[in-house]
Amino acid sequence: MPAELSPIDTAKFVAAKRAVQFIESGMKVGLGTGSTAAWMVRCLAERIRDEGLKVVGVPTSTRTAELARQLGIPITSLDDAKWLDLTIDGADEFDVNLALIKGGGAALLQEKIVATASDQMIVIADAAKEVSQLGNFPLPVEIIPFGWQTTKALIEETLVSLDVLNRDTSIRMNSDKPLITDEANYILDLHLKRIGNPRQLALVLNQIPGVVENGLFIDICDIVVIGHGDGRVTVRDINAGSQAEDQVYFKPTDNIFADLGD
Ligand code: 5RP
Repeated sequence: MPAELSPIDTAKFVAAKRAVQFIESGMKVGLGTGSTAAWMVRCLAERIRDEGLKVVGVPTSTRTAELARQLGIPITSLDDAKWLDLTIDGADEFDVNLALIKGGGAALLQEKIVATASDQMIVIADAAKEVSQLGNFPLPVEIIPFGWQTTKALIEETLVSLDVLNRDTSIRMNSDKPLITDEANYILDLHLKRIGNPRQLALVLNQIPGVVENGLFIDICDIVVIGHGDGRVTVRDINAGSQAEDQVYFKPTDNIFADLGD
């Protein structure tokens, strides 16, 4: 158990801790992927243990499913759950409209399907993820392995007519081989630096044969819970047009930190 959480882990943890307060007994909840989402899974497990909260989770990756199982969170498939009350997930970038870049953890396809099948999506993020314009974080695009070099070339050609600053792309690797996603696809990272029109880019990318899905989440996220290194949280609700500040109190000796394994 770490003696003290770093400011970045504190920020992720307090965002997660505040976000799980939105979960009520009886809910079906989409469980995101990544280091911030892993904190959320731990915080949810704590509420199930301490308060007897009755929920069922739908994981967005094999990693999250494994963590949820380890922590005793009941899980099921999306096909079984069909429709969810809420999904809580991390993001790589979010803007003022709560448009997101996701997929840094290569789980964007299941994440987008699960978030879109939810009444509400809450993003949890440290403050560094907020940007005035999307695109500094490389945009992940899930593509099928068949003919992937042709798909890469087509994407690069398509980018010429779009409002982006840079057009380099790279296939995501896992040591010396392309990384394989949970759906047995590849990830192409687009190093665009700046995305002038995220909505147009998302639509155009998905027209290209070989593209399965892109990491732009537009009009999907409802609320962002932003964590800060001093334990403060900001809750911004795009539909209500509201923003509230809060403080999350915790003891570094809480049981939850004993679960740290990744
Ligand atoms: C995984 C994701 C993650 O939510 C995103 O990469 C943020 O991860 P982290 O919380 O570790 O910064 O989209 O596909």
